[in-house]
Amino acid sequence: MTAQEPQHAHNDSLESVATEVRGCVRCALSQTRTQAVPGEGPADAEILFIGEGPGLNEDRTGRPFVGAAGQFLDELLAQAGLQRSAVFITNVVKCRPPENRDPEPGEIAACAGYLDRQIALLQPKLIVTLGRFSMAKYFPGESISRIHGKLRNVGGQLVLPMFHPAAGLRRPETRTALMQDFKQIPLALAAARKQQVPPPEKQPEDEPPPQQMTLF
Ligand code: URA
Ligand code: SF4
Repeated sequence: MTAQEPQHAHNDSLESVATEVRGCVRCALSQTRTQAVPGEGPADAEILFIGEGPGLNEDRTGRPFVGAAGQFLDELLAQAGLQRSAVFITNVVKCRPPENRDPEPGEIAACAGYLDRQIALLQPKLIVTLGRFSMAKYFPGESISRIHGKLRNVGGQLVLPMFHPAAGLRRPETRTALMQDFKQIPLALAAARKQQVPPPEKQPEDEPPPQQMTLF
């Protein structure tokens, strides 16, 4: 290990991230939370969903997306044919902002190390961002109305930005967009799986590349 690398780089785990989050006092949200919400899901999850921050019910239970927005997320996952138990769900900030206000840039920055470690540990094939704050991690300055539902490759990571489910509860148009966008997840995941298949060791130049043999 080199001097610049953080201590946890080689021996980190999702459990140790969660333990650190539960005791974290890196920002002022630690003073008003009931419980921190590290996130949950299996270590081999192929898809990582990143929300904004815990709300009232999440703060009470310590689990992500268990309130009204969470119930809608469950519906969206089900209609996309995804099992909640197979995906990892977390947030940009792990502690509830008072009155569910927007997380502040300083809070997001203070918490970013935990999210980055979760991403490094999971190495998800696909990241689905829910709402503006997780979108901004990958697409700073972009508008969610413009890019929602569009799969993008960000430095080798496939990211699919979505509206926040809570916004879908407020606006029927956003609800419709979320339903449409979530239906793309299985296709995006299939694309991600293909992309991560290592290329064949030898690719003879006189043979046609495989894509010329497909029918579409
Ligand atoms: N909204 C979020 O962004 N995250 C949660 O965990 C719950 C509601
Ligand atoms: Fe720590 Fe993140 Fe909670 Fe702030 S929001 S106290 S940085 S876990």
